[in-house]
Amino acid sequence: MAVVFGGRSSEHTISVVTAGAVLRAIDRDKYDVLPIGITSDGRWALTADEPERMAIADRVLPSVEGLAETAEGSVLLPVEQGNREVVYAEPGAVPKALGEVDVVFPMLHGPYGEDGTLQGLLELSGVPYVGAGVLASAVGMDKEYMKRVFASFGLPVGPYEVIRPREWEQDPAAARKKIVDFAGDHGWPVFVKPARAGSSIGISKVEDLAGLDEAIEEARRHDPKILVEALLRGREIECGVLEFEDGPRASVPAEIPPVSTHDFYDFEAKYIDAADGVVPAPLTEEQTARVRELAVRAFEAVSCEGLVRADFFLLDSGEFVINEINTMPGFTPISMYPRMWEASGVSYPELVDRLIQAALR
Ligand code: DAL
Ligand code: MG
Repeated sequence: MAVVFGGRSSEHTISVVTAGAVLRAIDRDKYDVLPIGITSDGRWALTADEPERMAIADRVLPSVEGLAETAEGSVLLPVEQGNREVVYAEPGAVPKALGEVDVVFPMLHGPYGEDGTLQGLLELSGVPYVGAGVLASAVGMDKEYMKRVFASFGLPVGPYEVIRPREWEQDPAAARKKIVDFAGDHGWPVFVKPARAGSSIGISKVEDLAGLDEAIEEARRHDPKILVEALLRGREIECGVLEFEDGPRASVPAEIPPVSTHDFYDFEAKYIDAADGVVPAPLTEEQTARVRELAVRAFEAVSCEGLVRADFFLLDSGEFVINEINTMPGFTPISMYPRMWEASGVSYPELVDRLIQAALR
């Protein structure tokens, strides 16, 4: 089994941490594991199998570069000659041989990994892989199309506006005005987001006009297409979905309480200060049933496979609104997806095993 991690997206680091946790949990008597890192500039490398180094330590974020660098003295040999240390392909290129693998676990977050591109490569290669296929991955990565699909399936989504790359190129003033008009309709603050990114990277909460241009620039650094969303007043609730032999099931939900030192659930709150989610979420029986039903419907709406974490707002009005899904949610030791399954009676090693088994079915 190949575990692929790192990658070209801004979530490179989190993917390394995610893969580290999974590498530690995989039953080594059952699976022969090949850890494959992708550097941030797209080179593929067989890395040393050292999951203990794949963690955030003292606020320092790990990377495939770091893992490959210290795999000292490694000879650059093709995989089939038995070298398991470092094999670099040309930048941007995919190695011709990764060794004999029965299944790939793509533990990648963000574009070029969680967005259907890697899944397409694996489809072409005829290798089974864990998780969502090409379509579900692509839809789940793009916050615009995700909302459009959800809405068409009758799932409740919040107000949003999209500004496409061509609009910025052809008339930036009109593009900016779309955001100002949106804020006029829905009120400040608004969230300005890259359409295709994750882990809250590139997202700004904009309080008024003064902060808008900087937020647009920051979002567009990650994606030329941006999304603006209204602030939804309520609680943040998440729910995991996992594919069992008889179909998808929802976990117990969790709640992300607001972090007093952070404006919203941003990157630092998520990973550095490790905001502590509450599992199970303190909800009524009715609310719990409702959010679990919506999570499975979201999974089905994009024809997902394997797993999904669905993120919701429980509005003060009592209604749930779906914010997004993540087809490869964080699997770090503090991540909500494995914690929600743990609380639902599926241990971390069993969870990993079920995902691999689902891929092989
Ligand atoms: N995109 C991050 C990894 C998550 O959803 O957990
Ligand atoms: Mg996300």
